[in-house]
Amino acid sequence: MRRHRILRKSAAIRDLISETNISPKKFIVPIFLTEGSRKKEEIATMPGYFRYSLDELPPFIEEHLSYNISAFLLFAKVSPEKKTNDCQEALNEEGLLPKAIRFLKERYPSCCLMSDVALDPYSPFGHDGLVRDYEILNDETVEVLAKMSVLHAQCGVDFVAPSDMMDGRVAAIRQALESHGLTKTGIVSYAAKYASSFYGPFRDALDSAPGFGDKKTYQMDFRNRREAVKEVETDIAEGADIILIKPAGFYLDIILEVKNRFHLPIAAYQVSGEYAMIKAAAEKGYVKLEDAMIESLTAIFRAGADLVASYFALEAAKILKGA
Ligand code: PBG
Repeated sequence: MRRHRILRKSAAIRDLISETNISPKKFIVPIFLTEGSRKKEEIATMPGYFRYSLDELPPFIEEHLSYNISAFLLFAKVSPEKKTNDCQEALNEEGLLPKAIRFLKERYPSCCLMSDVALDPYSPFGHDGLVRDYEILNDETVEVLAKMSVLHAQCGVDFVAPSDMMDGRVAAIRQALESHGLTKTGIVSYAAKYASSFYGPFRDALDSAPGFGDKKTYQMDFRNRREAVKEVETDIAEGADIILIKPAGFYLDIILEVKNRFHLPIAAYQVSGEYAMIKAAAEKGYVKLEDAMIESLTAIFRAGADLVASYFALEAAKILKGA
């Protein structure tokens, strides 16, 4: 008889043979920025998670650094009067993201900064691209995304993170960076991003819910796996440095498939709805928050993610430190 239980006999043995060990150094922390000053606003559908004005950010950043978390992914909440169909606010040098990148890079030069590149916060339609006659335009959008990436790179961001799912944007961004001599900026490409119902709380955080229709003409169909391989192949060929899969917890098969086929760092994004579900179940007493959080994150790493973006990063790091 095979005695499998021998290796589960004590915590010491279980720790010795454990295959997946998660570390705060592998976390990416999403940050929601808002205009103005002295603002720290809780997001109603993401209890315990906040939007910050720039001046309120340092304590948040420093607490993360003290737990060995140093990668941050920046998102901007743009006020309604700045949202236009040409999304020009995305290219404003004094806009929220450029200002935040410069501010954070100067204060915390050792941290790894990533910036969201997509047009949804800047569009009155809440779509990730430019809109004409209810259609989300591809090539016109890509031109804006490339300019936006150059701007962020010039401000000092380490990685631009296109989350829009337009075709050809990684190639266009890489080419634009090269032609501006920005040879040290990387691209984290949301290669396999699914049209998911789990982005709802994020759209509350940024006031960016689509004004018409849905995102199914550009984000992927959740019935498909082979299509993810095709998307990832393309983004790697176009010059992505890190591939991102999103959402994470319900898409572990995609993470594993991509991990087995490609030799690039694989990131996964545990999205706002995943966070909100676990929080809500814990609030109701249906699951224990700490255990569910660590299990959900471990499963994502076990499936093959090398790095994980999560709203639980800090809470998880605190638990891990105590462990
Ligand atoms: C939009 C964007 C979304 C998220 C990241 N970038 C929402 C969407 O595609 O509608 C979702 C992140 C989350 O839910 O945590 N470019």
